[in-house]
Amino acid sequence: CGIVGYIGHREAYPIVIKGLKRLEYRGYDSAGVMLFDGENLKVSKTKGKVSDLEERSSKDITTNGSIGMGHTRWATHGVPNDVNSHPHLSNSGELAIIHNGIIENYQPLKTELMKRGYVFHSDTDTEVLVNLIEEVQKKENLKLGKAVQVALNQVVGAYAICVFDTKKPNEIVVARLGSPLAIGVGENEFFIASDASPFIEYTSNAIYLEDEEMAIVRLDKGLKIRKIKDDSLVDPYVQELQMNLEQIEKGGYDHFMLKEIYEQPSVIKDTYRGRLLANKGIIQMAGIEDNLERFLNADRIIIVACGTSWHAGLVAEYVIEEFTRIPVEVEYASEFRYRNPIIGPKDVVIAISQSGETADTLAAIKLAKENGAFVFGVCNVVGSSISRETHAGAYTHAGPEIGVASTKAFTTQITVLTMIALRIAKAKGTLSNSDFHRYLQELEIIPEKVQEALLTNDKAKEIAAVFKDAPNCLYLGRGYNFPVALEGALKLKEISYIHAEGYPAAEMKHGPIALIDEHMPVIVIAPKQGHYDKVVSNIQEIKSRSGKIIAVVTKGDVQVRELADYVIEIPDTVDALSPLLTTIPLQLLSYHIAVMRDCNVDQPRNLAKSVTVE
Ligand code: G6P
Repeated sequence: CGIVGYIGHREAYPIVIKGLKRLEYRGYDSAGVMLFDGENLKVSKTKGKVSDLEERSSKDITTNGSIGMGHTRWATHGVPNDVNSHPHLSNSGELAIIHNGIIENYQPLKTELMKRGYVFHSDTDTEVLVNLIEEVQKKENLKLGKAVQVALNQVVGAYAICVFDTKKPNEIVVARLGSPLAIGVGENEFFIASDASPFIEYTSNAIYLEDEEMAIVRLDKGLKIRKIKDDSLVDPYVQELQMNLEQIEKGGYDHFMLKEIYEQPSVIKDTYRGRLLANKGIIQMAGIEDNLERFLNADRIIIVACGTSWHAGLVAEYVIEEFTRIPVEVEYASEFRYRNPIIGPKDVVIAISQSGETADTLAAIKLAKENGAFVFGVCNVVGSSISRETHAGAYTHAGPEIGVASTKAFTTQITVLTMIALRIAKAKGTLSNSDFHRYLQELEIIPEKVQEALLTNDKAKEIAAVFKDAPNCLYLGRGYNFPVALEGALKLKEISYIHAEGYPAAEMKHGPIALIDEHMPVIVIAPKQGHYDKVVSNIQEIKSRSGKIIAVVTKGDVQVRELADYVIEIPDTVDALSPLLTTIPLQLLSYHIAVMRDCNVDQPRNLAKSVTVE
């Protein structure tokens, strides 16, 4: 989501609206604005884009006032509609909040507040937070800043918030944990935003709040930053911004794709946040808990998807079969829908889609439903067509993916699907207790290992420079890493226009081996687990035909290093999770090759982000 706030001497509305437009890359399914003109608190919000909000607010409210805040939403709880849009007001109507992030423990807090008579109008976690602040304020007779602090200490999750209280019309309170928040410091005016893009033309002085910090921004007395936990004061560090608008939107990265590659450690964490409690041995997802019997009684699971999502489906096939012993089939949605498939009430269909709008996947879901199957969605876009058309589902929480070539959507899909497999395995007893706990623990620390895998960037760049003009490229992997080979090849094709093919390593000798000569780069995924020795033999076969070998190996590997021309080292992990790590250098490799070939990385020719035609 994107948030904007203003307090000062100018009209707030145009600043907020323009700022929201700059932040639309962060999410754009609904938008809202709050204004205070000294007497009245005015709120206007709507499903849709910021331009829809402009139209709506011109009818709803008078747009004057020099205090304002706005929000462009990327839904996490509750479908995108008018009511779920931000700002949210407290029951008294005195407090207004905008929020970016997820409050994990909102359900128990909500139940508690309802017992005390609070009424909720939306399905959001945010409305719970604003009423919690109100409750604290009333019960303990606290000022806004203190009440926000006390409330935040009861909250588990991630947030960037901006709160306004009509009783304190000279201040805005902001806080951050896990979601970004910048404060622009002007002359007798302050700007608040998810990044500096909304205020860059007004001031180049910015303060970036750190996690667990809050700021009380006051027109008369300036700004105070405190630690949320222990209330200690923090010296504000005012930074002079050197970036231009475009750089700010891309978080300082040259392309959205690169930004999204680098977001993977944090979005994987967002994906399992509140769902995985490794030390307690708990893995839970509402959509699975409510329908556990359907999975336990399933004769088989059929996965339908397209493109990169189909590759995530292939990884899931390996994971689900291994952990749960339920037979899994993976189908291209476009094939499935037209081939009169055998499907019935004892089948569970899992539809995977980043956008939730892919026409073929949607049609496959409808067909499965007509035949009585239970259909479960794994989508990134909350409230998308597929998430509405399926019986139940689990969101990936990767945040908006702008680059057409999918990166963080893929790794978060794998994360969700692995969690599903683990949850079912626990219920079925198909994994030993010790294995179950080992996987949970490993999953919990995988974001740190993904972070480490990102250190392969320089190596990937060096290799890209050598092979950027290759006309063809071969990607090989076995087991869990066979789908990664397909995905690596797809990434290269999509953004650099180099012909690439992915193959199961052992299949090479049934065809692709004929292509190998000294000009052919072969990328081999060879982590320590899985079928390492077999892959080593495959590498030898390539070597004896003079192919150029680029190997992705586990840190400390010696055997492959001796054979390969280039090695890329990634951290060690369990076999089933290795795709989350081996994928990273392949994403980086195609990214750098595309940049060096002067290709349009974020919008490759002929491709679309969301394919709503068949
Ligand atoms: C398009 C995109 C791909 C994506 C595929 C499936 O081809 O360019 O990146 O993998 O559609 O999209 P979905 O939104 O259903 O995952």
